[in-house]
Amino acid sequence: FRIAVFASGSGSNFQAITDAVKAGRLDVELGLLVCDKPQAAVVDRADRAGIPSFVFRPREFSSREEYEREIVKRLKEHDIDLVVLAGYMRLITETLVTPYYGRMINIHPSLLPSFPGLNAVEQALEHGAKVTGVTVHYVDGGMDTGPIIAQRALAIGEGESAESLTERIHKIEHELYPEVIQWVREDRVRLDGRRVRVIM
Ligand code: GRF
Repeated sequence: FRIAVFASGSGSNFQAITDAVKAGRLDVELGLLVCDKPQAAVVDRADRAGIPSFVFRPREFSSREEYEREIVKRLKEHDIDLVVLAGYMRLITETLVTPYYGRMINIHPSLLPSFPGLNAVEQALEHGAKVTGVTVHYVDGGMDTGPIIAQRALAIGEGESAESLTERIHKIEHELYPEVIQWVREDRVRLDGRRVRVIM
């Protein structure tokens, strides 16, 4: 069972997934990193771990469709069963969603459908929310709108800073994402319309 991770930045979730594989908690092969930012730290992490990567510059392609077609080609070449978005900062369109619907998941730092899009942690603080969390969901072409697989909630502290909340959310992400990927690996996640059932 081979997964591809898509990331644009530091890649702490990529690292957590790699570590879970090494520790034997996650029974998948990390077949490919896809990254749209050649300078991103996640590229070094993949190199160090000996994981192949497809790193591209979006502006070197004439359209989003063109680079997404190239990505689909690479996914097929590497025989990828599941696409795992982990801080991939680009909207994904039907070129990618259609062939991988139900086989592409994302992690988002809020309890969706609250606070989709960028800066979800800051959005929660600006709204004075008392509770926020982490969501793992299937990707459907919208911005953080796909069917929800798993959520973890946490209480926001009185006067808590964005840095502190971000750090606590990351910690939850690093535990939850490998766990959910393992559920998918074990074929325990069933998608039925908008509803997802996890067989425990
Ligand atoms: C995470 O908070 C994830 O929820 C969001 O982007 C961030 C990626 O962080 N989609 P990292 O690159 O994995 O450290």
